Amino acid sequence: MSDLTELNYFTDESLVPDPYPYFDELRSRCPVTKEPHFGVLAITGHAEAVTVLKDPATFSSCLAATGPFPGLPFEPTGDDVSELIDQHRDELPLHEHMVTMDPPDHSRARSLLSRLLTPRRIQENEEFMWRLADEYIGEFIANGECELMEEFAKPFSLLVIADLLGVPEEDHEEFRTVLGAPRKGARPGALDSEVMADNPLQWLDDKFTHYIEERRANPRGDVLTALAESKYKDGSTPEVVEVVRTATFLFAAGQETTTKLISAALRVIGERPDIQQRLRDDPELIPVFIEETLRLESPVKSGFRVARKSTTVGDTEVPAGTTLMFCPGAANRDPDHFPDPNTFDLERTNVREHLTFGRGIHSCPGSPLARIEGRVTVERFLARMADIRVSEEHHGVNGHRHYSFEPTYILRGLTRLHLEFTPTA
Ligand code: HEM
Repeated sequence: MSDLTELNYFTDESLVPDPYPYFDELRSRCPVTKEPHFGVLAITGHAEAVTVLKDPATFSSCLAATGPFPGLPFEPTGDDVSELIDQHRDELPLHEHMVTMDPPDHSRARSLLSRLLTPRRIQENEEFMWRLADEYIGEFIANGECELMEEFAKPFSLLVIADLLGVPEEDHEEFRTVLGAPRKGARPGALDSEVMADNPLQWLDDKFTHYIEERRANPRGDVLTALAESKYKDGSTPEVVEVVRTATFLFAAGQETTTKLISAALRVIGERPDIQQRLRDDPELIPVFIEETLRLESPVKSGFRVARKSTTVGDTEVPAGTTLMFCPGAANRDPDHFPDPNTFDLERTNVREHLTFGRGIHSCPGSPLARIEGRVTVERFLARMADIRVSEEHHGVNGHRHYSFEPTYILRGLTRLHLEFTPTA
């Protein structure tokens, strides 16, 4: 076993800035390899990941977002642990959210989103994004520099979801402050900063419970009313708590991930003047640019499944109860699927086959939004700033850059990105 594969993927911070050599090493041993610390089967091959993700009858999502921490609350026995999973559902982390559900509960929970993610709603949301992007850029453009995460990416991705859900604009500033993306120079304390520090998810729950109850009592024909009145496919009305859960989970699933996409895209633009120039010369390339950024810099590093039944993936035997880890960042750099995988290539014909948004029944319902958010951001930055550069003062000179990444085994993204630019007239 080489040194790299002996590292503990889940805890070793040396893997955080660049996990790709580790993934490559695992894949070169076998695209389905057991990592030695928790016995998790790491799937680093593209084809093998697709096989697992498209087979929810064999692979449960019950630990989708957490994996081996804390893992299953029972000792798997026999060749089929389906009943054990069902018996212990309520003890599993995030069991109340769709991402960990299996059919038929999953289908039921996900159907509530269909009222929300209609083409019309997404188009209205996009209109809001253009306005919001320009408003936030306007706050820092005259400085000739910005710290992208705090000054743009976090508040932007947060308020896009708020708008999608129909949160009234007069409440946006409160969302921004309470949910940790306050305006530069804003004094905490103008709002309830204790709530902000303590439990933002509880705050969101309370806020949406209020919105939904109020809209059920007094329908107003707005987006929140549509959400409050949404029904399951069989015509039954969900409990308020079920609607609230759907709404609040969007913030958890959609904010940090998109923030990371935006910072990855702007980092490429700041690092690669050649690519920046191509996008300026031909803005129609921006969607492809976003797609290649998603492939090469997947904001999601890992997700999990549990084998319900004993089976095989590729040539590897998978006993029932095994935790499998799919790694979009690894599948997206599988050389059998993407030739010359580590190169940023705007001509890649199969780029949309990346697994950054997953595959199958759980594939990301927010992907259209994330793509639009990326496109709108890049278009507005290029239009309003010439010569976008990574700050040498904060990140070092070219060839000796230093960046810090969030220390997590699930997501991958920068903690800070300092940019400099020349405002255009
Ligand atoms: C670049 C940004 C994003 C990335 C990389 C991303 C990635 C993913 C992935 C990989 C999954 C599948 C998880 C699994 O199969 O276990 C997923 C599911 C999900 N995502 Fe996203 N996502 C992004 C943005 C968003 C946005 C903007 C929203 C909502 C507004 C969103 C909402 C969701 C929801 C609700 C699920 C659960 C779906 C289900 O279980 O059926 N995501 N996302």
